Amino acid sequence: MDPQRLTSVFPAENNLPAELKINESISQTEYLVNGELRYWDGPIQEVLSPICVQTSTGLVRKKVGSYPLLNEEAALETLEAAVKAYDNGKGLWPTLSVEERINQTEKFVHSFKTKRSEIVKLLMWEIGKSYQDSIKEFDRTVDYIIATIDAVKDLDRVSSRFVIEQGIIGQIRRAPLGVTLCMGPFNYPLNETLTTLIPALIMGNTVICKPPKLGTLLYRPLLEVFRDCFPPGVVNFVYGRGSNIITPLISSGKIDVLAFIGTSKIADTVKKQHPKPHRLRCVLGLDAKNPAIVLPDADLNLTVKECLLGALSFNGQRCTALKIIFVHEAIAEAFLNKLTSALAGLKVGMPWTPEVMITPLPETGKTQYLSELVADAVAKGAQVINAFGGVTTETIFNPAVLYPVSPEMRIFTEEQFGPIIPVVPFTEVETPVRFIEESNFGQQVSIFSKNPDLIARMVDPLVNQVSRVNINSQCQRGPDAFPFTGRKDSAEGTLSVTDALRVFSIRTLVAAKDNETNQELLTQIVRERKSNFLSTDFIF
Ligand code: G3H
Repeated sequence: MDPQRLTSVFPAENNLPAELKINESISQTEYLVNGELRYWDGPIQEVLSPICVQTSTGLVRKKVGSYPLLNEEAALETLEAAVKAYDNGKGLWPTLSVEERINQTEKFVHSFKTKRSEIVKLLMWEIGKSYQDSIKEFDRTVDYIIATIDAVKDLDRVSSRFVIEQGIIGQIRRAPLGVTLCMGPFNYPLNETLTTLIPALIMGNTVICKPPKLGTLLYRPLLEVFRDCFPPGVVNFVYGRGSNIITPLISSGKIDVLAFIGTSKIADTVKKQHPKPHRLRCVLGLDAKNPAIVLPDADLNLTVKECLLGALSFNGQRCTALKIIFVHEAIAEAFLNKLTSALAGLKVGMPWTPEVMITPLPETGKTQYLSELVADAVAKGAQVINAFGGVTTETIFNPAVLYPVSPEMRIFTEEQFGPIIPVVPFTEVETPVRFIEESNFGQQVSIFSKNPDLIARMVDPLVNQVSRVNINSQCQRGPDAFPFTGRKDSAEGTLSVTDALRVFSIRTLVAAKDNETNQELLTQIVRERKSNFLSTDFIF
């Protein structure tokens, strides 16, 4: 889209859709600590939408609202609340029966669903996600919570029995780890935060959640829901700058689990602040530079469709996005022709524009950063081969296809997390394979070909370099029942509906020599329901 038309995709105030506009700026002063909403009268962070409006003085980012910037003292108060609620494992929540924890999570999901339209609207305004994708993010989160509840039931059913081995009777269950700090990313601020928070909670941990820097206000409608569904101190929310709130939390040594989705640089900084790092269980989703490898016999229509989706869904702001495309020289020209003509038909617009693909980018300075990457590649011999590629207006960046890309360009190794599609020609499959081997990242790869021999030859070594090899399909996290992880700088720990229950818990057992006295003792405890751990109750 040419620069003038690009500017006109931003609406005037009176053209904002009535049902989706933010009528009043949201001044959030509350945060959740120890089952109470506290009110903050200190410094605040202004929230500007990536969506601009036309004014007499030009395009202006619309103000969405503001949220509190807590200080160290307030952050440590939330820590004390979570520590007290856990109470060295003696707290109400960690000792509650699994069935009771399930009941409270069911109550949560019921109230959560009532917040759908409010949260979907905030997803659009805070991070520029399209209406369809915002709905998808919300509904996927509901499905994830429901699947988690089912998985906990399954897990409990398997553990609801005694085993006898070598003359020892045992009951083996999964027990919580302690106080969990959950921090999600801006691109899936709701889904990726709750896919760690809910499993952590349901396994009996207490939680402090720091919403992402962008996509923060959408948690406001949930504070009351969390307050009303869980005992005091079990879920707490902090807001503010990492150095003021995260550093004191971690360096206290009282955080037992760190669930963080973001960059490996920040993860390393946070981890190192723990006085006893070996005590900190880490569940991390980090950086990636997933390549697509297009082999000479690939079905070009399907390949272009998947590559476009993979590279540009939510403007390429997905950790799983295809961030570099290796194309065999024999079909490079045909591939690029199809890619650029498909690109010309993509819709650029506001999150509510029907079928929109490219929307405003929420990160400060993002369009400048992407322009620098393009300029660097062009200076080193690549060309922007699509019409108006890389043209920017305020927060919108018109997707740019760069060709031919080579190793000395920044875009070859940097994770752009935005709508740039770098294409690298190759003649030998060793070239993309070497890229993966030498990369700092190891999340996923996509291979496009119809040749079973060729695919099989590539799959065997590549599964030892990345954690998912996609055949004739873009890279992605879902379905959520599948394991989601990565090697090298891409992840620590594995997430999926069932794996998440494991990472937020530890196998613990009660054991006794198999003799008459112990048999009677255990029978009495179970029969009279004296313990929540030693129990053979079956949850239906
Ligand atoms: O940003 C990373 C997300 O986990 C990707 O999820 O592949 O379903 O978009 P997705």
